[in-house]
Formats: sequence, structure tokens, C-alpha cells
Amino acid sequence: MSGSANSSLAKEVGARLEVDLAETRLDRFPDGEIGVAVDPAIGGADLYLLQPLSPPVNDHLVELLLLADACRRQVPARITAVIPYLAYARKDRTTKAGEAVGLRVLASLLGPDRVDRVLVVDPHVAQMQSILSVPVEVVSAVPALATAIRDRVTPDATVVAPDAGAVKLAQRFADELDLSNVAIVLKDRRSGQEVDVSGLVGKGVDGPALLVDDMITTGNTIAAAAGTVSDRWEPSSLMIATTHGLLVDGAVDRIEKHSPSAVVMTDTVTHTDLPPSYRIASVAGLLSGAIADLHWR
Ligand code: R5P
Repeated sequence: MSGSANSSLAKEVGARLEVDLAETRLDRFPDGEIGVAVDPAIGGADLYLLQPLSPPVNDHLVELLLLADACRRQVPARITAVIPYLAYARKDRTTKAGEAVGLRVLASLLGPDRVDRVLVVDPHVAQMQSILSVPVEVVSAVPALATAIRDRVTPDATVVAPDAGAVKLAQRFADELDLSNVAIVLKDRRSGQEVDVSGLVGKGVDGPALLVDDMITTGNTIAAAAGTVSDRWEPSSLMIATTHGLLVDGAVDRIEKHSPSAVVMTDTVTHTDLPPSYRIASVAGLLSGAIADLHWR
């Protein structure tokens, strides 16, 4: 079953599994409220409900919760929420006094009364299993992203983490691509829109620089890292790889100013009209494989 956030991905996953998508109806009331209805024939089914929490995040979240509620009322055997991009994962703890912990709130919404299990792709927080109260299956798009960019990566390439939080991810890309150079940009986030860069750890060589991050939202982090890398050494080309390309608030233009030779991302979030340098590594195979596996467990 698909929510409205990424029906093309849901159709592709269904096609690979050779199953039809269950019918749903989405109504939007004049005040912005959403109403949903599902096919009552799903009773008894092992149900997979696909809805990334892409922008508009809050609408897609409420739609997912309403769909889960509508499904639960038909008494399916089990509901797995397939959430290719999981929003509200940035805040898994407070870092300043007075803050809310978004991931805890999300965890309480995705509890056992609504869903039995959650399947996510490259969540921002690694320890999802200890935060959600239902079982969480995590799959990674890193191998698919590495495959999609491999033809441009020479052995002298450096993988660059745009902040300390992306170091493990950079190392995973380096392992996938058999690269030994990893560098880290030192970033401080001032607000959702502003980042400061104070330095670079690691030494780039003359080859390409591959900037990697789990998600690109406004593109400020990647653009700041690209600027820092180009200032400190002259990479022969700049490439970017990310799982979740949210690309809001002029992110594409911000990134294009650094003339990347390739930007590879997945289709957890859909876009039209991306520049020709963008390559999409679909997660449809990853999700259909995970669903086929979960169906028997
Ligand atoms: C932060 O820790 C994340 O990994 C990303 O670096 C961040 O969300 C990217 O946001 P933006 O593109 O707005 O800088």
C-alpha cells in the first residue's frame, strides 16, 4: 500500500514483488485536514505501507498515521510501515536546554497500537532499534550509491565527510569503493539554515573528492564542505553522494555553484527536473528484497 509521498517508488516495489498495490483514498478538507480510507479487503494480510516522510513532512506524517489507523481497523495480520526517508530523526537527544526530542515523539506515534514493525533506509540515527518500541529493520543504500558512482571514482579519490557525524559513512563509502583517503570537514551548525566551517582534517590528494552525507536538505552543509575542499586543495573533480535528497530552499542551485561532476542520490524522495549531473540509484530493489525477506519472518 502506498501513501501519497512516493507512489512511483511503491509501484516499482510492488512490481518487483509481483503484487498489486492495495487501494486507498485520500481526501483533503478545505481547512487542510486529511481523511483517508483503505480497501477493507486487506483484513488478514501481511501489509507493507510505504510512505517516506519527505516534504511536506508533517502532512506526510499525519497521512501515514491515518493510513496505519485505517489499516489497523481492517485487522491485517501485521502492518510494516516502510518509511524510506524517516524525518524527525535529527533530534534523538537534547543538546540545548528546553528542546523537544523529535525522535522520541515520532517513536511514540509509531507505536504498537498503529504499526507492528518499521523498515527504514539509512536513518540519520543509527540506534533506531533502541528508540522505537516496535522492531526496526534498517537497510542501507550505500552499496547502491557506490555502484552508481564507481565509474567516476579513481583510486586516488578522497572521500570527504562534511561534518564529524558523517565520518563513519565516509569510511563505508571508502570501503565500498576500495579507497584509502578520507577527510573530514569541521562544521558547526548555527541554525537550520546556517552552518560554519572551521577547518578540514585529513589531506586530499590530486584526484577527485567524493563528498558524502546521509541527507541533503538545504544543501548548506554540502556547499560549505565543497567550498572548503576547493579552498584547501584542488580536486580534479567534485562528486556528491547522499541517500536522501530532500533538496529544499534552493539546494540544487546552491550545490550547482560548486559544479559537481556528478551528484548521486536515491529515490527515497522524488524530484523532477534535476540537472543532468544527477544520477538516481533506486532503492526499489533494496526495499522489495527486504520486504520479501520480512514476509517470511
Ligand atoms: C546533519 O547532521 C545531516 O547529516 C546533514 O548534514 C544535514 O541535515 C544537511 O542539511 P543541509 O543540507 O540543510 O545543510
